[in-house]
Amino acid sequence: METNTQTGKLLATKYLGNNPKLATRLEHSISVGDLSSKVAKRIAQNNPELNINVDLCEFLGYCHDIGYFISPEKHEIHTIELLKKEGLDPEIAKKAMHGQLAEQFGEKEGNVRQYFPVGIEGIILTYCDMSVRIGEPVAIKERAREIIERIKTIPTIPDALKKDIEDNMIKALPRFERYEQIVLALAGLKSAKEF
Ligand SMILES: [Fe+2]
Repeated sequence: METNTQTGKLLATKYLGNNPKLATRLEHSISVGDLSSKVAKRIAQNNPELNINVDLCEFLGYCHDIGYFISPEKHEIHTIELLKKEGLDPEIAKKAMHGQLAEQFGEKEGNVRQYFPVGIEGIILTYCDMSVRIGEPVAIKERAREIIERIKTIPTIPDALKKDIEDNMIKALPRFERYEQIVLALAGLKSAKEF
């Protein structure tokens, strides 16, 4: 399977497009894909020696959340499984890892590293996912605050889980902010709004 904007959008629509409950997830995926495209192109232009795979960054941005088709919990792992099922090389599929599983499960399971982003493409994906919900990107700290506040208003999430998500977000924030610093430095920009 080719990995580019077209195939990324195709997979996002295939797995998230038929369920009204996943409509905002699909919208978010499009925003992350669009941002990934801008970020990857800019970093590739500024740093040709890095040999960034822009097409792959776009692909990952659009399809990173297809695992929600299986379940929201550990959807990152489900995304990787679905990509492998779709015929993607397992080493490439692994680059779809994102989110805060390292903080949520890594320590408990005694293996933090398996949940870290893979390569610069993985860092760009994690950065983009954490910078934009729908529409324009914001500073990661701002988006983390927004996620915590929004989760508090969802009645179907049990209080213990809300607390767990909030705690892990606070724990993961410094790591996400390091990716933000790396991405902005490589892009030669001061803030996400400049993309
Ligand atoms: Fe996700």
